[in-house]
Amino acid sequence: MEQITAQKRINELRELINKHNYLYYVKDNPQISDQEYDQLMKELIQLETAFPELKTEDSPSVRVGGEPLPFFEKVEHRVPMLSLGNSFGADDLRDFDRRVRQNVSTEDVRYVCELKIDGLAVSLRYEDGVFIQGATRGDGSIGEDITQNLKTIRSMPLRLTEPVSIEVRGEAFMPRRAFEKLNRIREEKGEQLFANPRNVAAGSLRQLDPKLAAERELDLFIYGIGIVEGHPIDSHSKGLDYLEQMGFKVNQERRVFSSIEDVIAFVEGWTEKRGQLPYDIDGMVIKVDSYAHQGELGFTAKSPRWATAYKFPAEEVVTILEDIEVSVGRTGAVTPTAILKPVSLAGTTVKRASLHNEDIIREKGIMIGDHVIVKKAGDIIPEVVGVLAERRTGSERPYVMPAHCPECESELVRLEDEVALRCINPSCPAHIREGLIHFVSRNAMNIDGLGEKVITQLFNHELIQNVADLYFLKREELLALERMGAKSVDNLLAAIEASKQNSMEKLVFGLGIRLVGAKAAKTLSQTFLTLDRLVEASEEELIAIDEIGPKMAHSIVAYFANSAVHETLEKLRQAGVNFEYKGPRVEELPTDSAFAGKTVVLTGTLEQLSRKEAQAAIEERGGKVSGSVSAKTDLVVAGEAAGSKLKKAQELNVKVITEEEFIALLQS
Ligand code: IVH
Repeated sequence: MEQITAQKRINELRELINKHNYLYYVKDNPQISDQEYDQLMKELIQLETAFPELKTEDSPSVRVGGEPLPFFEKVEHRVPMLSLGNSFGADDLRDFDRRVRQNVSTEDVRYVCELKIDGLAVSLRYEDGVFIQGATRGDGSIGEDITQNLKTIRSMPLRLTEPVSIEVRGEAFMPRRAFEKLNRIREEKGEQLFANPRNVAAGSLRQLDPKLAAERELDLFIYGIGIVEGHPIDSHSKGLDYLEQMGFKVNQERRVFSSIEDVIAFVEGWTEKRGQLPYDIDGMVIKVDSYAHQGELGFTAKSPRWATAYKFPAEEVVTILEDIEVSVGRTGAVTPTAILKPVSLAGTTVKRASLHNEDIIREKGIMIGDHVIVKKAGDIIPEVVGVLAERRTGSERPYVMPAHCPECESELVRLEDEVALRCINPSCPAHIREGLIHFVSRNAMNIDGLGEKVITQLFNHELIQNVADLYFLKREELLALERMGAKSVDNLLAAIEASKQNSMEKLVFGLGIRLVGAKAAKTLSQTFLTLDRLVEASEEELIAIDEIGPKMAHSIVAYFANSAVHETLEKLRQAGVNFEYKGPRVEELPTDSAFAGKTVVLTGTLEQLSRKEAQAAIEERGGKVSGSVSAKTDLVVAGEAAGSKLKKAQELNVKVITEEEFIALLQS
C-alpha cells in the first residue's frame, strides 16, 4: 500500500474509532459490537506499524498502552488541586449554607450537587484541543505525570470537539463490574484479592507500564475546570455543560437547587440509592454555582469555602444470620464466620461476615436466626456490627462454640490471655493446609500461581504435607491434576524455583512461627543474618532485640526446638532454598536521616501514598514502623480521620505530624 492510501485509511479508522469510543464509553450507547471495534483497532495498529511515520500521539491506538517508563516525571499544577472540607450530616450542611449566605452579596444562592466519585483525582491539560498531559493530584501543588496511563482510559477524549486550551479536573475510578471481574480472575489464579475499586484505580494509574493500566478498564468523570482560555462561563453548572460539549464524560446525576433543604433531601436520597450505581461513591459534593459567589467566598488554606463534601456513613444493611461456621487458621485459631442470607451491600452481594471470636458473639448476644446489622468498611469481608434483638420471634437459637476441631476432632483449648480457641494438634489438616497457604502468600515466599485452591488440591492429593515438599514436586505429578495445563505447570515450577532466591525474612515469615509477623521476621533476619543463627538463638538473645518481647522470644525458641521443624529445614536446605538475609543490615541503614533509629506510627488515611509505600520509605531511611503508640514511639504521622492512636499520642506527648509534613521530611 502506498503511504497516501495508508494515510487516508488511517484517518478514516481514527475517526471511526473515536466516534465509537465516544458512543460506547461516554454516551453508554454502543452502535457496533466489541468484535467490530477490535477489528478496527487491529487494522489501525497494523497500518501504523507498517507506516511508523504516520503514528501520532493522539491516535486512538495509544489506548492499548505504550512503552514502560523508568519513573514518573513531576508536574507542577498551575492552579493548586485543593481538597474539600467535610460535612457529616444535615446540620453540617445547614451550617455550610449559613456561612455561604453570610458571605455573598446577593440572595439567589444556588448549589450544584454532584456525586463524590470514590477514585483518584487527576488533572488533564489540552492544548488547541489536543490532550498533552495528565497528572495525579500529588500534594496538591506537585503531582506525577501519568499521561501515558490516562490515555488508556477510553472515555477520556484525546482530542476535544473544539481547539480549546484547557485544564480540567476529574476523578479516575474503576467500575464495580470491572473490579469484580478482576478479583474473580485473581481468585482463580490464587492471587491476593484487591480490597476495593479505589485502590485498584490508584494503583493502576501509578503503574510504570501503561499496558497494565490499559488492561484495568478504568473510567473517568470530569467535574471541574482548572484553567480555560477565552470562554465566558459564569457558573459551575454551565461549566459542566460546556465540558460535556467538549466531549468529556460528565456525571449525569448532577442537580442544581436553591434551598439547602432540597440539597439535604437529594443527598439523603443518594445515601439510600448509592448501592445501585455501577461505581462507588463515598459522598456528595455541594458547590456554590455562581463563579461570582465563589469569588466572594474564596478559600481557606486547604479548601474552597464555596464547596463541601458530604460524607456518607459506612453503608450498613440488615439481614438474617442463618448459621455460624468455624474455620481453623494456620496457627490453629478457630474463628467463627456468620453465614448470612445474601444481601446487597455497597455494590456487592454479601453472604459471609466476620465475627472475629467467641467473645464478640457473646458480647453482642448474637443468636442463630437473628436479624443482624452488617457493615463494610473498606475490607473484603464485611463484619457483623450488631443485633436487632427487638425483631426476635423466639425461634432463634443461642450459639455454642464447638468443643472439638471441625477438621481433626481434637479438643480445642483456650490459651492463657487469649480470646481465640485453638486446635493445638500440629498434624491437624486445616493447620497444615493454612500453613502452606501462608508460606506461598505474597509477603512470605510469594509464589505466583499457588493460591488457596491449588494448595488445597495438592494437599488433598497428598503431594505436599509440609512446605519443603513444594520444592520436590514433579512435573508429571502436576500434569496429572485437574485443570493443570502444561503452561501453568511450567509457570508454577518456575515460580517455585525463583522463590528459592528470596531473602531470609520471607522464609522466616513464611514458616508461620506463632506471633512472628512480617515485620518481626525482618528484624530477626537483619539481626541474625542467617537462618542457622536464628535457629540457635536463645531466649535471652532474642529478648535483647528491641522489638522482640518475651512471648515472641519464647514462641521462636519453642518452634525451633521441634524436631519435625528441623527435618523440614533440612529438606529446604537440600532443595537449595536460600537461608541468608540479602537486604541492608541494621548497621548499613542510613543514620543521618530524620527517621534513622526512630519508631514511627502511621494512623488515619494517607492521601498521597499508601501505607505500604510510607512504611517502605521510613524503613529505607533507617526507621521502624510500629502498629501502636506507646512511650517508645518517636513520631506519629496522622492522616485524615485519625482516631484513637492520635489521641493516645497526644496523651503521651508524642510528636505528631501531618501527611504533608511527613512528605517534606521524606524529601529532606
Ligand atoms: S470538586 C476544589 N467534585 O473528592 C475542590 N471533587 O477532596 C475540587 N471528588 O480527591 C474537588 N468527586 O478528586 C469534586 N464531583 C466531584 C468529586 C470530587 C470526587 C474527589 C476529588 C478529591 C476529593 C475532594
